[in-house]
Amino acid sequence: MGAGNNTQPAECGKEFQPEIVAFCCNFCAYAAADLAGALRLSYPPNLKIILLPCTGRLDMLEVMHAFERGADGVLVAGCLEGECHFRTGNLNARRRVEYVQKLLEQIGLGGRRIQMVNMSSAMGAHFAIAAAEITAEVQSMGPNPLKMMVLC
Ligand code: FES
Repeated sequence: MGAGNNTQPAECGKEFQPEIVAFCCNFCAYAAADLAGALRLSYPPNLKIILLPCTGRLDMLEVMHAFERGADGVLVAGCLEGECHFRTGNLNARRRVEYVQKLLEQIGLGGRRIQMVNMSSAMGAHFAIAAAEITAEVQSMGPNPLKMMVLC
């Protein structure tokens, strides 16, 4: 399984704050994140958003590169099922996310380090909650072991 086990301070002496990369669809999640900000709904500051024209453009290699470069978790946020502007982009993205989850499980990083959520552009609160939930779950898993090899 390989997922860490703690919320203990990281080896470098600071409390572990997961870095989450969020691949967000332009039509929904990106706008929802914007709305969350406009509504002053807070979500974890260590979440870095990468804009996609559709989650159907999610590239598994880019996801693996994010982990390789030290991301502790990845959130993929696309349109509601049946609402993708490119028909099945979000369904294809979900299949890719499930594939990467299995891969991460097999290599010992923990499959739950990547998760997918669906939302509309009006669901700012949903975005803030999803960001907080994945951050909390990844925090309980501990840092990405690949990052630990590089940082300390
Ligand atoms: Fe949003 Fe495809 S257009 S997920």
